[in-house]
Amino acid sequence: MNGRAFSRRAFLAGSVALAPVARALAQARAQAPDPHIEDLLRQMTLEEKAAQLTIFRSPTASAAINPQGPHEPTREEALADAGRGMAAGYFNGFDPAFNRALQQRAVEDSRLRIPLIFAGDVIHGLKTTFPIPLAEAASFDPELCRRTARASAEEASALGLHWTFAPMVDIARDERWGRVMEGAGEDPWLGARIAAARVRGFQGDDLRAENSLLACPKHFAGYGGVEGGMEYNSVEISETALRQVHLPPFEAAFAAGALTTMTGFNDVAGVPSTADRHLLTEILREEWRFPGLVVSDFQSVRELIPHGFAADEEDAVLKAFTAGCDVALSDDIYVRHLPALVRDGRLAEAALDQSVRRMLRLKKASGLFANPYRSLDPGRAAKAARRPEALALARETARKSIVLLKNENNQLPLPKTGKSLAFIGPFVSDKDQTLGNWSLNGMPELAVSLEEGVRAALSSDARCTFTPGCAAESEIPGGIEAAVQAAREADIAVLYLGETGKMSGESAATTSIVIPHCQQALAEAVAATGRPLVVILKHGRALALQGAARDAPAVLCSWFLGSESGRALADIVFGDFAPQGRLPVSFPRAPGQEPFYYDHRPTGRPQIGDVTDFTARYREVANEPLFAFGHGLTFSVLDYGETKLSAPRLSRDGALKISARIVNRGGRAAHEVAQLYIHRRVAAITQPVRQLKGVQHVALAPGETKEVVFELRPSDLAYVQPDLSMRADAGLFDIWIAPSAVGGQKASFSLD
Ligand code: BGC
Repeated sequence: MNGRAFSRRAFLAGSVALAPVARALAQARAQAPDPHIEDLLRQMTLEEKAAQLTIFRSPTASAAINPQGPHEPTREEALADAGRGMAAGYFNGFDPAFNRALQQRAVEDSRLRIPLIFAGDVIHGLKTTFPIPLAEAASFDPELCRRTARASAEEASALGLHWTFAPMVDIARDERWGRVMEGAGEDPWLGARIAAARVRGFQGDDLRAENSLLACPKHFAGYGGVEGGMEYNSVEISETALRQVHLPPFEAAFAAGALTTMTGFNDVAGVPSTADRHLLTEILREEWRFPGLVVSDFQSVRELIPHGFAADEEDAVLKAFTAGCDVALSDDIYVRHLPALVRDGRLAEAALDQSVRRMLRLKKASGLFANPYRSLDPGRAAKAARRPEALALARETARKSIVLLKNENNQLPLPKTGKSLAFIGPFVSDKDQTLGNWSLNGMPELAVSLEEGVRAALSSDARCTFTPGCAAESEIPGGIEAAVQAAREADIAVLYLGETGKMSGESAATTSIVIPHCQQALAEAVAATGRPLVVILKHGRALALQGAARDAPAVLCSWFLGSESGRALADIVFGDFAPQGRLPVSFPRAPGQEPFYYDHRPTGRPQIGDVTDFTARYREVANEPLFAFGHGLTFSVLDYGETKLSAPRLSRDGALKISARIVNRGGRAAHEVAQLYIHRRVAAITQPVRQLKGVQHVALAPGETKEVVFELRPSDLAYVQPDLSMRADAGLFDIWIAPSAVGGQKASFSLD
């Protein structure tokens, strides 16, 4: 990480907007010594302390992820360890009965009766599976994200969990990276608001409640910057980019009350994040005063060795722990080395105590000392799973996640009667790929396929066919011929194309973000029939669309929509629900444009007008996105008026009102998502060509006009300065109220 000096006070001043008083009070309370915890600490052996800094993978979790990794406890070993106080908790065991048995051993048999804590990756629901987080971000609706996190917490806590390793808040700007699907997309402003909303949703109002789930924003930090989008790769980002792009969602998540965070597998400029003192201690503890717990990623302490940062296990433990990583995940490496390091005098016992104190405080804050069997009632599991309200929310969220990218000649919505429809593509009747990656404990067999959703929406005599045409990544004999035949016999063809769940998520980086070859060939053959065409995309990242998938008159971006996928798609396709999703990631024209994001910095040679030589561009494609960040159509036609300002100047203690009129010129009701963007013309560190600063949802009846009004204050204009302070200095700004990162009418103002 570059070693620029920074002013801590100035940085904190810039953070104030995200640090409500409640946070300061909660921290103050959390810091007061707890006599019970201090008493436990006095009684604990070094081994018991190290064990409180170790979370094992549950023996009831699915098969080992890393065959070369350390031994993971069997059921018998886990029960014995719990009875000896030799673990802080377990993760990814969605089995309340077994978790309860472990807890019983811990609180009845172990010497100090310290309760276990149970964690898990609840990334987009469990048995009720919500759309993947990236899809949900397309709602541009943090409150919706809060509600799905709350519903996820209801189910997860009934399945024996107290803590989720979520939300994933990494800003991702290279769509080759598979983990793009887990986060909220490319924008820090939107990412920060969604991160905070998800934390509030998981944790609810009372951390000790039966249905509360501790949140763990991850991966701290910079993981989204992996070079070339390759999973687990190195990260080379400047300190300014770290602070302006990658850290804001974390700050927002902590301000919303998150008490834990997880490191990443990545390094930043040669320092693995699991042992990065600058990140874990200087920023997290010293600047932000984070009172909570830092947990490593899956065995990432031992990975310091292959990283070339530690010589051996002991060195790895010393480096990770002293940098600020409190807990080792899925590894007994702390248990085996921390006690000896203290005995040898290489590590102060007080440092160990401080981390243990954080773990015990967390357990106390979540009510586990008072009620160790909290959330461990096996009877609750069945009743809490797939409740009608949760499934209704899954459908609502899925509908709001779908983005209408294109709709020439009002191709959509499709008529429910009078026309015959041919649904074509490997996913038309499939259930296995509805949920997407990270759907641990999801129930694909109960998910609604597109075919089921469509059939439920149409009368039984409606003329529609469902033909796969090919498998996701391979041809099927006669597949294309059958699909072409089905298209010829229908009035309209609907292609459902894209990725399988495993093509995005962890360990699913790709060099080419395109629709698999066999599906593209299917699309070309179906398009060649000349039938009116609709394309529905299934994907965990932005895709570089080509040929028929790009040129079809109507294209819907539908991600992985979860349990209610088919029903939500039918709602949109037949117009029972007007599309309102917006892209949280930019769609490039070609894969080679990645990393590709709207808020890039201006260059010294921007392309202006038709002049292309010696300007910043590629030879083959235009710089403009195929579909911009924030883009999403409705079934109606909306016009944005002039961007108007309450004044041409903003004073230091003032506020600027920015307004625009939006007219619904079409014949259908519309839900518009108006976006506020700024550009600072001159800065000590050049600022992006546009930056999102506000979002408003507006419902417009046919013919209706509404005015949207945003407000900006000087603190909204702060940026990371050369001394790393976060400040807004005087300057000139351009500003737009726009339907996406490329539209809208520009106005200008100055900050005094
Ligand atoms: C992932 C984390 C996850 C952990 C535990 C790791 O491979 O990077 O995001 O929380 O596994 O399942």
